[in-house]
Amino acid sequence: MLQKYQHCLVSLIMAGGVVFCWLGYMYSTSLSPNEGPSKYDEELTWHPVVLSDRSQRKQAMLMEPVRTDVLTVTPWLAPIVWEGTFDPQVIDEAFRSYNLTIATTVFAVGKYTRFLHALLESAEKHFMVGLNVQYYVFTDLPSHVPINMTLGVGRRLKVVKVPKFDRWQEISLRRMELIQTAIEEYIHQRANYIFCLDVDMIFHGRVGPEALGKLVAAIHPWFYWVPRSQYPYERRTISKAYIPQDHGDFYYQANIFGGAVEDVHRLTKTCREHLEMDKSAGVEAVWQEESHLNWYLWKNKPTKLLSPEYVWDDLRGQGAKEIKLVRFSSVIKNKAEVRENP
Ligand code: GAL
Ligand code: MN
Repeated sequence: MLQKYQHCLVSLIMAGGVVFCWLGYMYSTSLSPNEGPSKYDEELTWHPVVLSDRSQRKQAMLMEPVRTDVLTVTPWLAPIVWEGTFDPQVIDEAFRSYNLTIATTVFAVGKYTRFLHALLESAEKHFMVGLNVQYYVFTDLPSHVPINMTLGVGRRLKVVKVPKFDRWQEISLRRMELIQTAIEEYIHQRANYIFCLDVDMIFHGRVGPEALGKLVAAIHPWFYWVPRSQYPYERRTISKAYIPQDHGDFYYQANIFGGAVEDVHRLTKTCREHLEMDKSAGVEAVWQEESHLNWYLWKNKPTKLLSPEYVWDDLRGQGAKEIKLVRFSSVIKNKAEVRENP
């Protein structure tokens, strides 16, 4: 009798242990960000100690808009970030106490590894300075990654080996899938936010926590003055990236997008599924993942938009009067020379 009782007790303890381990596992793999206020869009808490007198410099005046030359808010009330619309010092002080970690993915495949050093060097000067940044460099050539670069405090770099793709379009097509998998496997446990950057880019000015939000995208520097019917969206109905002529908000460039880890996970998962459906239908969207990104952001409105200051193109030069500060821009490259195929 006693033996039977002991047997039951042992079974109970074992069952309890299994349930406990399972709960622990579910918790650790859950995709909600670990700690930190990634939902600050709705509820940015201002710690009284955070705002020093020094930061309370300029009063916001309702009748004195800071920018009258450009749109600073979307019809769905998401801010569009331009120079002059925020005070960098106020933003920095507000975010300092949160100890946020920003995962940052960069794809450097084939000859594109040549852009890495300049990108990382400029990111160390301008990108999320003062926050924890984890760079994830996806490459087929790990030996080309400048791992000896000195990174600032709280910043580190991890190399992720990926297969060599034959066509540059393939790199663009696989990027969503690789980011999705990386988020599921490790990023979700380590970061609050994630930004995905093109490698053939350079930071010239501040890109800081003013760019953080649940779902963030940057407005392409070549199309922001044209009617949407002229945006280079995918226009063939057979593609999952199809957007009709009279729809869409802005044309976003895929060179930088990001947000809270959970939101970017949803974005990459959907785009990946759509890219695969297109592939089985034998269709490739006109601008590959960028077309799918634009479709996703048409259906799921970004909570914060970055003005073209955040994704400039050196080919456009310096003349645009609405651009007070170029922060991040595509470097001029010989496409025929760096791409593996036309
Ligand atoms: C180009 C850019 C491409 C793509 C295209 C869309 O300026 O280099 O990456 O965004 O615009 O038309
Ligand atoms: Mn590029």
